Amino acid sequence: MTLAEAMIQRHSVRKYQDRPISNIARFLLEECISKCNAESGLHIQLVTGEPKAFGRMFSGVSNYIVMAGKKSSNLDELCGYYGEKIVLFAQQLGLNTCWAGLSSANKVGAFSLKEGEAYCISIAVGYGETQGSERSTKVFDDVVKVRGAVPQWFRSGVEAALLAPTALNQQEFRFELLEDGKVKATVRRGILSKVDLGIAKYHFEAGSGKDSSVWA
Ligand SMILES: Cc1cc2nc3c(=O)[nH]c(=O)nc-3n(C[C@H](O)[C@H](O)[C@H](O)COP(=O)(O)O)c2cc1C
Repeated sequence: MTLAEAMIQRHSVRKYQDRPISNIARFLLEECISKCNAESGLHIQLVTGEPKAFGRMFSGVSNYIVMAGKKSSNLDELCGYYGEKIVLFAQQLGLNTCWAGLSSANKVGAFSLKEGEAYCISIAVGYGETQGSERSTKVFDDVVKVRGAVPQWFRSGVEAALLAPTALNQQEFRFELLEDGKVKATVRRGILSKVDLGIAKYHFEAGSGKDSSVWA
């Protein structure tokens, strides 16, 4: 499964089978998390076999990814960006996921933080009862600011961002193409909006084929 296919096929899944993650998938997921931690300085952790953190809206969740890192004004966006990188990799491994602002992961105590670190959010991961379903979405013109012709890479980046998960499906991100070819990505203030922005920026890079130097 390519990254583009993973973005299309990924949907939030809230009901999971009572089945542990296979050894090979777990090994590859841990490896992906280690690489993300090394690159970002975050303290992302995989918790397995812990059924208490996800209640109410979820069922069968006993594995989750804890997004945490050094306290900073950039922590939420960084967690969004690297968390989504892991989410799409999990999709490629045949796993399902759901970001969860509302969980008890930080109360159950199945992970630890170092001094100066803060918990941000968790992501349920495992084998879904279903593959989830499509949801309503904004369209290109709702989320862009452009003058003149639209280059294909920009269009592809925005289309990929529209596939990104956002809290309450709010999709409050905006992409502005500047005259120097850089892109200004912003988000309207809301619940977990900086996490949403990081997630959408990861999708934009993956869809456009650009790296982080594209950002103004
Ligand atoms: C930052 C963030 C927090 C979220 N928190 C929750 C949550 O607490 N409970 C839940 O059921 N879904 C949660 N979601 C999932 C969103 O509802 C979902 O991504 C959105 O409705 C779009 O659907 P999709 O992921 O299937 O594309 C969250 C998503 C994001 C990105």
